Parts: sequence; structure tokens; C-alpha cells
Amino acid sequence: MAKVLLVDDEVTMVQLVSESLRALGHEVFPFSNGATAIEALASKTPEIVVTDLYLDKTRAHGLDILKRAKEMDPAPIVIVITGFGSIETAVEAMKLGAFDYLEKPFKLDELKLSIERALSYNEAVSENVYLRKQLKTKYHFSQIIGASEPMQTVFKMIERIAETDSTALIRGESGTGKELVVKAIHFNSRRKGRPFVPVNCSALPENLLESELFGHRKGAFTGALSDKKGLFEEAEGGTIFLDEIGSMSATLQSRLLRVLQEKEVRRVGDNVPVYVDVRVVAATNEPLEDRIKDGSFREDLYYRLNVIPLTLPSLRDRRDDIPLLVGHFLKDKIHPRSGNQFQVTKIAVDTLGEHDWPGNVRELENVVERACALSESYIIRTRDLPPSIATLAKADDTPSPAEALKEAEAKPDSEDTSLFPLPQETNPSLAVDLNTAPGPISFQPLKEYLRQQEAVYLNRVLTHTGGDKDEAAEILDVSLATLYRKLSEQDDK
Ligand SMILES: Nc1ncnc2c1ncn2[C@@H]1O[C@H](COP(=O)(O)OP(=O)(O)OP(=O)(O)O)[C@@H](O)[C@H]1O
Ligand SMILES: [Mg+2]
Repeated sequence: MAKVLLVDDEVTMVQLVSESLRALGHEVFPFSNGATAIEALASKTPEIVVTDLYLDKTRAHGLDILKRAKEMDPAPIVIVITGFGSIETAVEAMKLGAFDYLEKPFKLDELKLSIERALSYNEAVSENVYLRKQLKTKYHFSQIIGASEPMQTVFKMIERIAETDSTALIRGESGTGKELVVKAIHFNSRRKGRPFVPVNCSALPENLLESELFGHRKGAFTGALSDKKGLFEEAEGGTIFLDEIGSMSATLQSRLLRVLQEKEVRRVGDNVPVYVDVRVVAATNEPLEDRIKDGSFREDLYYRLNVIPLTLPSLRDRRDDIPLLVGHFLKDKIHPRSGNQFQVTKIAVDTLGEHDWPGNVRELENVVERACALSESYIIRTRDLPPSIATLAKADDTPSPAEALKEAEAKPDSEDTSLFPLPQETNPSLAVDLNTAPGPISFQPLKEYLRQQEAVYLNRVLTHTGGDKDEAAEILDVSLATLYRKLSEQDDK
């Protein structure tokens, strides 16, 4: 949900829209005065601004708000509302970078839809920015975990697809790792030194997606202020990843088909074709066959994309991989990020194996992260899992009060047989290595290691007590003087 700053001089309108946006879970900052709204932009940092253009019937304050919003970093997305059929000003607003405009009277549903699109656009843009940054730093390491039969097949297919240059269609339920697999394909292919460009086809309205993908000529449409390269051209030599291909409109489907057949793109408003050498990999989590039957997906495009099909297994069909994945998240993701090495009881791991995982690996990752955040110690237990999963437990792993006390004070004992043994290192035969080898493992003197662990623990206890050192010393069962000494030792480092 988003922070929405709403500006309109009609107070009843502001009230009505605020209420319905709040009902959707958005945080709304309503204003009926343009100048106050402009001042509030900086302090409220909204993700979305919805503003009327004519705020006092004389001047277009809405445009001032838009301009100011566009100067911010990150800039909120602006949706403008126009009255009196003032279409020219709306056009002006679009030129200045408004995301969308709605003409009064509009239906609340139209506004909701526009906000939803704005949010997914935002998400897509920030993902792209992030990925480009990743490419710049040449950091392509990521791992695909799975020892189960179905995953072995997936690994073989990734290798096969990476060796060829043909289009591929990756299917799988949400969270099964489609994006991860497409990256593995690219970074193991001969194109790895060239761009990897992901595009979420459901995030943008049709015309925006069209000019994003194919580019445009200056003046091709209102708002096309200069020539712009499309993502196909940006991806030259590399791979373009068309995610959620099923949501592509009929017009774009036929344009894409032409690109695949002729290996050339035409910018919007241009007749001159540009030859492109780009590999297309598409992904979908919906059955495209159904879309073909109801006529909303072109069969010929489907065959072009589906030259090599790969379907990723759902997590419930490879439950044997759950313990491996849990170990991977704790060791390779949460540990480097938080500095804390969490362990997990065998009973908790077994309990995770009982769940159906409609959200697949992504859901598992979220559950593990949440458990680490909630756990009172460095040991994840069944009680740290979401209630709907915890009730599936077949045994009890609640610690006795004495055990709980010990756990809160010390690092878990790696010899403890009730704990699930974390993998020493990810078995390379089970993982597809994306380009870079893991960094060197560095060892250090025991004293230094213990000091670091102590620092992490002290920090944790102090966070728990809200910085109260008396209470912290009591929990740690050390004198206040000792606590101060330890803290100053940590500070000296
Ligand atoms: N086999 C795997 N090993 C390790 N991590 C995985 C694996 N599969 C998925 N993940 C992790 O799960 C999360 C979801 O993966 P990803 O985004 O690739 O899924 P997706 O199929 O594209 O989902 P959606 O359809 O919702 O877009 C990511 O954090 C990814 O790193
Ligand atoms: Mg995805």
C-alpha cells in the first residue's frame, strides 16, 4: 500500500476520495489548498500524488505541484485530475511527466486502477534500476538450490538452454524461481557479458510498454519529446526477459512476433527498421493454452516463444528440497545480511515440510525471515513459524525454562542433535554457479571471533531493553561495570 497525497479544492471530493483510498489500505494526506500541499510534499514523501489541475479556478496550481514533485528524489508518481474538459492542460501535464490523467467526473474505480498501475510501474522501475546497478558492479552471483529429481532436470535444461540461442518459455507457479532461472540462463550463456534486461509486461499500460520495448521517434505521440531507444535496442547482444508475457496486449503480441521473425524493431512513429541481436526469454505463471483457446494469446507467438519450454516444479512437488533451502536462506542470505547465524530445530524443519506452499520458494523464504525476526534466541522453533504452519507440527520443540534461559545467553551448540545441521557449504553439484565464485572464506583468531559474536549479542540485548543498561546487565547476569567495560572494548575496535 502507498502514501498518497491528494489535492483538490472541492472539500467534499477530497473527503470522498480519501475515504475510499483509506478503505483500500492507503495512507492518505488530503489537502484542499495547493500551496500547503506543495509544502507538505517534502515532509510526507508520498509515493503517489493525485492532484486536481485547477485548484482555484484561476491558476493551474496542479502543474506547480507536478513540477515540484518531479524535482524530488525519489519522485512520486503524479496522477492529475482535470475538470471543465481542459484537455490541453492535461496534455501539458503529461508532457511534464504526469503518469496518468482522469477527467471529471471520474469513477472511483478508474482512480483505483490508475493507482494500482502506478504502483506496479514504480516497482518495475526500481527493479530495473537495481538490476542495472547489479550489472555495473559485475556481481552476478546467485544460486539455485535443489537436490530433488525435478530440480536435476531443471539444471540440465538450464545448461541446454544456455548453450543455444533460441527463445525459451519458462513456466511455473508464482515464487518457483522463474526469474532466478532466466538469470542463470543468461549468465551462463555466451551473452553473459552483454545486458540482461528484465521487463515486466503486466506493469505498464499498453502504450507505455510499447514505447519502452521498441522506443519511439521524437513527436510520435504527445510526450515523445526526443528520440528514445527501446529496451530491445538497449539489450543488444544480450537477453531480454519478458516476464508475465500472458498479459501482453494483442497489438504488442503481433509486434513482438514480428521482432522474433525478422530480428528487427521499429521505433514507434518510425518506419526504418533497426536490426537487433537479442535473445528473448519469456515467463508466465498462467496456462497460456487457456489464453490461446479464448483468443487472447496468439498461437503463432506461443509457438515462437515455446521453442524450448521449461516448467519449474512447485515446492510442494519437491518437498525434499525444503531443508536444503532453509539452510541456504539461513547461511547464505540471512547470515551475511544480519551478521547472525540462526539455527533451526529439526522439528521446525519437519513442520515446514508439511505445509503446501502456494507461494513456493518465495513464501518459504519469507517464512524463514519472519521466524528469524521473531525468534527470542538464535534458534528457530516451531513457535516462530506462522500459526497456520505451526499447527501442522507433529512434535513439540518448546524449550524448557532452563533451556530457554541458556539459549537466550549463548550461541546455539552446533553439536546439539535436536538442531538441523546447516550445510557446511553449498554443494556445487546442487547449485548453478552464476559466473562468479564465492568470495574467499576468511578465518580469524578465536578471540576476535568471540568479540564479534559478543558485540552482536550485546547489541541485541540492548535493543531489547531499549538501551536500558541496568536491565541489560541484569539479563546478562553481569555487573553494570562489566557491561560498560565490554561496551567500551567494543567501541575501541
Ligand atoms: N531454487 C531456488 N533456490 C534458491 N532460491 C530460490 C529458488 N527458487 C526461488 N528462489 C528465491 O525465491 C524468490 C522468488 O524467486 P523468483 O522471483 O525467481 O520467482 P518467480 O517464479 O519469478 O515468481 P513470480 O511468478 O511471483 O514472479 C527469490 O528470492 C529467489 O531468490
Ligand atoms: Mg518473477
